[in-house]
Amino acid sequence: MKQQTAFSQMLQEARLGSYAVAAFSAYSLESFQAALTAADNAGVPVLIALGERYFSNLRPRVAVGMLQGLLAASGTEDAYPLRVGLHLDHALQFESCREAIEAGFSSVMMDASGEAFEENVLRTRQVVELAHARGVGVEAELGGLAAGAASHEFEQGDEVLTDPKQAEVFVRETGVDALAVSIGTVHGMYKGVPNLDLARLEEIARRVDVPLVLHGGSGTPPELLAKAIRLGIAKVNVNTEASLAGVDAIQSRLSQAKAPHMSELGILSRSAMEAVMQKYIRLFQPGR
Ligand code: 13P
Repeated sequence: MKQQTAFSQMLQEARLGSYAVAAFSAYSLESFQAALTAADNAGVPVLIALGERYFSNLRPRVAVGMLQGLLAASGTEDAYPLRVGLHLDHALQFESCREAIEAGFSSVMMDASGEAFEENVLRTRQVVELAHARGVGVEAELGGLAAGAASHEFEQGDEVLTDPKQAEVFVRETGVDALAVSIGTVHGMYKGVPNLDLARLEEIARRVDVPLVLHGGSGTPPELLAKAIRLGIAKVNVNTEASLAGVDAIQSRLSQAKAPHMSELGILSRSAMEAVMQKYIRLFQPGR
């Protein structure tokens, strides 16, 4: 029988409860604090997502140590990994997954969505074998998102919407715990009016029995998020909008005559990011 990971348990509970878990991109102490505080205030589970592309900010072992320290400081160590998870976002390399798994992450995303279908299956399955042997959850992606404005995820993205039949085969052949789908959201802010293919999502959800993941949360209108969650999205990723809010807060402080201290900039960016995260956490609980 397939072993249940904390990651899949967290997302299955969300799917049953018709809400989505927020996965906030985090790459600094301030972004970790912002995500933890926003989730704690709302009393919801959360995933802290370190992208492979942010390894130059934080290596996985440092991220684990930081999260353990923050949870210990608030006396909530036991929140890990069922209420607070540490997730590796968009790993293009198997070795990044291994590094995160060995460091103690609760889930990893192997992103071979840029490869041909069979290659994506192969690379994902390799990670599933390693991860599940350690009780770590795995997300993978089928299809690809376009890059929106201010996107920091990918410089170029060609949108390829997820094929529902392929999704069914992919999940069966890989054994992943969650599947990221491409249904029209973009990485970054939308350049025009968001147009989500909800019929496609519905069809994928009918064929696939694992929780579904929506990347490109930033700027997605509340009513579309609510519909997507109702149709089976159990995890939504947010990066760009929180980052823009943090940068804005720093920029407006820098425009003042008296130069700030570095420590002040950290606190300013933290509260700006936290406000955006709080907003999305509310939107991901449409039934409440
Ligand atoms: P946004 O930057 O559009 O919020 O997307 C984040 C994301 O999907 C991270 O994997």
